[in-house]
Amino acid sequence: MKEAELVKDLLNIVIIGGSSGIGLATAQAAHLRGLRPIIVGRDRAKLAYAIDIIGPNATSVVADAMDRTALERVFSEIGTINHLVIAASGGRGAGAFASLAEKDLKAGFEGKFWAHWNAAQAALTHLESGGSITLITGASSRVAAPGTSGLAAINGALERMVPTLARELAPVRVNAVSPGVIDTPWWADKPIGMFDEASRRAPLKRAGRSDEVADAVLFLIGNAFVTGVVLDVDGGLHLT
Ligand SMILES: NC(=O)c1ccc[n+]([C@@H]2O[C@H](COP(=O)([O-])OP(=O)(O)OC[C@H]3O[C@@H](n4cnc5c(N)ncnc54)[C@H](OP(=O)(O)O)[C@@H]3O)[C@@H](O)[C@H]2O)c1
Repeated sequence: MKEAELVKDLLNIVIIGGSSGIGLATAQAAHLRGLRPIIVGRDRAKLAYAIDIIGPNATSVVADAMDRTALERVFSEIGTINHLVIAASGGRGAGAFASLAEKDLKAGFEGKFWAHWNAAQAALTHLESGGSITLITGASSRVAAPGTSGLAAINGALERMVPTLARELAPVRVNAVSPGVIDTPWWADKPIGMFDEASRRAPLKRAGRSDEVADAVLFLIGNAFVTGVVLDVDGGLHLT
């Protein structure tokens, strides 16, 4: 068999938001374990940089997960999807409740909740029956930290869908990984000091790494008897 055919025969993993942070680390881990990552993001240059890091079996597609038509086109071009990971985030919706602007929270929902919802629904007819969907949610759903009610609403909405979808979409498996504070570019536009302060709140008293989250994603994808699970990867932050 020719090399190109061998690559085509590998199981694929489509990662929405695969050009940075947790999604990129997931693509790297998946490639190391013999999967064929297809990463999706909005920025062509970021995708090209990521492809260089991930390895020769990876490919990329430019698309905005908020654009349903674009997602449907991408999934049709891919054909069969073995595993879908949704790691996109607009990063909006944080801040004290009293001053949180409605437009910011709406932008947060657009960038995360609706991006996840759209990607999962648009992928359905393409997912193979033994396949899986893994959402990347966030510890804010349950930590009850002041200033994160908007993020709690967004991530909480996604996490509450997981058990229901796991029943409704079986035999496709549906799980989520709920990260705590992870050292990624997501923090780049947040106020100075917030990352360090948030990192110290967890019992393990440090920020997590993207590869630690990716390891959990690969476990959920690889174990064919796990569905409906929200797996905390947060240094114990959800216990605080
Ligand atoms: N880092 C943390 O501490 C933390 C904690 C809890 C939860 N999370 C969640 O983990 C997920 C991954 O975050 P991260 O820390 O890895 O962030 P990141 O490094 O900023 O990566 C986000 C990725 O999503 C892509 N993306 C964003 N919006 C998109 C859209 N509309 N369509 C397609 N791709 C899009 C970005 O590429 P483009 O911008 O080029 O599109 C990038 O590849 C997010 O859902 C975030 O909420 C992160």
